[in-house]
Amino acid sequence: MWLITAGPTREYLDSVRFLSNGSSGRMGYALASEAARRGKVVHLVSGPVGLSCPAGVERVLVESAREMLLVCREALSENRCEVLLGVAAVSDARPRHCVSGKPAKEDLSKILELVPNPDVLATLAGMNRADLCIGFALEDMDEERGGFVGAVERSRSKLERKGLQAILLNELASMERDRGECWWVERDAEPLALGAADKAALAIRIVDQIQKRLQD
Ligand code: CTP
Repeated sequence: MWLITAGPTREYLDSVRFLSNGSSGRMGYALASEAARRGKVVHLVSGPVGLSCPAGVERVLVESAREMLLVCREALSENRCEVLLGVAAVSDARPRHCVSGKPAKEDLSKILELVPNPDVLATLAGMNRADLCIGFALEDMDEERGGFVGAVERSRSKLERKGLQAILLNELASMERDRGECWWVERDAEPLALGAADKAALAIRIVDQIQKRLQD
């Protein structure tokens, strides 16, 4: 099984308002679609996106980070996992309380207290149920932050912290676009440029690289 998380999460603070982000889910869906096309059993755990389920993929829709973690945990404990791919843009925090109804906007600052969300990918990687755990990192490549070299360093420390074998490093500018430049980053190897391409073409290159890595 390949387990893939995708899309944003929503963290409700009342019955109508939520914290989220602008992730389109396109990269995760393109990867799920490409893996299924190659005959893999694919479980896609997705936050709310405007995309239909790719052919041959088993999808579960979730909203919050905690829900995403719960569903993934279950999938991992029930199935042997070849590849775990964390592509979701999980909200870093959630409101401590979710109140029912729609409180007046004047009261929001009294209600809104944030607590950190669990790290879905790190928690799943820690279960040691997947042969290969891969994450995504969105990094600023501005000169003030050390440019490309700084972005690779931050990706490597993210990889260590989360217990992953590789990180796909994306430039910040690719977030809401259909094209993105991407690098495969491992602990002890030179970053491998997968090039700038639309997300479907990038998914083919990423899945090629994953399959190569599985054969090593
Ligand atoms: N991730 C996750 N659960 C979280 C946060 C992140 O599963 N609560 C996963 C994402 O799916 C992605 C990777 O971890 O694979 C991204 O890590 P993160 O630390 O959020 O990196 P950035 O998005 O680059 O953000 P930042 O640099 O601000 O930490």
